[in-house]
Amino acid sequence: MRRKLVVANWKMHGSKAAIEALIPAIIEGVGQVAADVAICPPFVYLEVAGQRLQGSGVALGAQNVSAEKSGAFTGEVAGDMLRDLDCRYVIVGHSERRALYGEDDTLVARKAAEVLNCDMVPIVCVGESLAERDAGATLSVIGRQVEALLSVLDGTQLAHCVIAYEPVWAIGSGLTATPGQAQEVHAFIRRRCIQAGAPDVRILYGGSVKADNAAELFAEPDIDGGLIGGASLKADEFTAICRAAE
Ligand code: PGA
Repeated sequence: MRRKLVVANWKMHGSKAAIEALIPAIIEGVGQVAADVAICPPFVYLEVAGQRLQGSGVALGAQNVSAEKSGAFTGEVAGDMLRDLDCRYVIVGHSERRALYGEDDTLVARKAAEVLNCDMVPIVCVGESLAERDAGATLSVIGRQVEALLSVLDGTQLAHCVIAYEPVWAIGSGLTATPGQAQEVHAFIRRRCIQAGAPDVRILYGGSVKADNAAELFAEPDIDGGLIGGASLKADEFTAICRAAE
């Protein structure tokens, strides 16, 4: 039985003061929930967030990482640095990074490999645009994104990853994939992971998950939790989503 995982992606939101208020409220609200929970704040707040999360059972994660080990890469952050701050998870290949910062499948796969190298868990995001869905290309797009990952990782490595299916048209739009639409893609990803020898990879759904739609999504057989953007900035809403994962 795969344990559910709910991850907060705070994106470029927050401040020291906001985090000081939000984290204790989330820790309290989540309580002893029978699911894994993680929070991914902006890089600059990782240390303070990590201090506040200590001893809580809620894990720390980052939103991005360099594919390089170290060196002359101005403005980049290395996996070893994230590990040094006790990050357990790192989101790679979020659609905003793919669309706005030109990250391609190859770079995303290299980043995932580097996260594994640093003993952390990559949360590898995949997803189709609305135009791709409308053109009937959803599964071929997802297939291409997953194959890029498999060209770099073997089954044992893949088993240590999390995959997040986030339809681009559902992110921040209020348009959630129906449980059936999401399950179809999750089952497709699952089949490929099984072939690769990693049947128990956790596959999260992301894209306008809220307290009132989380339970029906998480009830699908291949949906193992969620990657939560907007709703993760409100303690009540986020903790309700975490409880829906029990
Ligand atoms: P959303 O974002 O929940 O605000 O749609 C999800 C994400 O981008 O990870």
